[in-house]
Amino acid sequence: MWSQAVSFEQGHLTISGMSARSLATQFGTPTFFIDEDHFRDRARAWSQSLDQHFGVSAGDVYYAAKAFICTDVARWIKEEGIGIDVCTGGELAVALAGGIDPKKIEVHGNNKSVAEIDRAVHVGVKTIVIDSLFEIDRVAAAASKHGVRQGVLLRLTPGVEAHTHESISTAHEDVKFGFSIASGAAWAAITAVHGHASLELRGFHAHIGSQIFGFESFEILAERFVTFLAKYRDEFKKELPELDLGGGYGIAYLEGDVTVVPRDAMQALANAVKKHCATFNLQIPTVSIEPGRAIVGPTMFTLYEVGTVKDVVLEDGTHRRYISVDGGMSDNIRPSLYGAEYTTILANRNSSAKTTSSRLVGKHCETGDIIIREIDLPEDIVPGDLLAVPATGAYGRSMASNYNHVPRPSVVAVKDGKARVIVRRESIEDLLALDI
Ligand code: LLP
Repeated sequence: MWSQAVSFEQGHLTISGMSARSLATQFGTPTFFIDEDHFRDRARAWSQSLDQHFGVSAGDVYYAAKAFICTDVARWIKEEGIGIDVCTGGELAVALAGGIDPKKIEVHGNNKSVAEIDRAVHVGVKTIVIDSLFEIDRVAAAASKHGVRQGVLLRLTPGVEAHTHESISTAHEDVKFGFSIASGAAWAAITAVHGHASLELRGFHAHIGSQIFGFESFEILAERFVTFLAKYRDEFKKELPELDLGGGYGIAYLEGDVTVVPRDAMQALANAVKKHCATFNLQIPTVSIEPGRAIVGPTMFTLYEVGTVKDVVLEDGTHRRYISVDGGMSDNIRPSLYGAEYTTILANRNSSAKTTSSRLVGKHCETGDIIIREIDLPEDIVPGDLLAVPATGAYGRSMASNYNHVPRPSVVAVKDGKARVIVRRESIEDLLALDI
């Protein structure tokens, strides 16, 4: 759950040798702390595992920017030599600002605007993943306008059930994403792409969901996609060279949770792809993946300061302690949106007090503003104490809002005993600056 550089010395959380208290004093709270070396190590682990198990068929690891991106992190991605998946013009802008080569960028989105498509084609992104028939015409028009032949993948809905929360499960049939294989929509899309000389159909893409642990869904996806590649070969007498099998690999949020090991995941995927290609006598296509959470998730934690502690008597006569911190659903919407579970620890001191059943809540004007529904915490926690919540790297800061006009937290990168702000804290002036 914790990033590599975190350790606990007599109850004090330190990261790269700096104490939580000193960091809170220097940077304020709430703040996201990201362990740069850990991020880089995890990115490398995925690309090395992909290379190791797919060999010459290894495509790219495209880090899913939606999990968390800022200019400095984009620079780390560039330096690690991996690619990036962006799904809006905003994410594309950050990737480019971080110096990522457009040939390492893949563009997603189920409703890319004409302007977003134009920009992507103009800067020369490697791949646009097409999600609708309208978009086929739009990408083709942009490619003609810029005089290029744009590489595209078709996003398909393979009808695979990923065993995770419905809102983050994406490849069963009744979803907004992709062209269904079962309904024939995928085949119609292929024909439409073939009708445009400015488009180069390279293959297919799917993302089946997020926070997935078993490999069976990925293996079924590999089977359906290879079968579909064979159908394409049989029909058009040529083979498509590429598959992108998306992200979705799970991480640990709580003590005792398991986490997906990159080499195990890539081995399972490679075995499945190779086996089915052998069955159909197909060449093994280039295979790419798009992990987001599995790279950034465990590399960050959020540091909050406690503001109030309140005991509430429940109907059965027992007490629940409500501990309020200075952030909440504006910096971590996942518990309210998905019922996601987190843990926390007292970070600024050692406590030998006995524990009491507590609920960790934020400062928002809403009952559902809960970070942790139930957790045993030392009963001597008081205002001014610091609480650290691990594994908040993915979809924490990136889904942050200004609900209640709360400025969004800063992100501080930690490396070699030094800490530096990579995303500054928003100010009230930033918020007011938008009002005309
Ligand atoms: N590729 C595509 C096309 C995606 O849509 C996603 C995530 C990913 C890759 C990366 O998935 P990951 O490896 O991070 O699981 N906000 C939700 C997760 C939504 C994910 C949306 N797409 C959450 O907080 O759990």
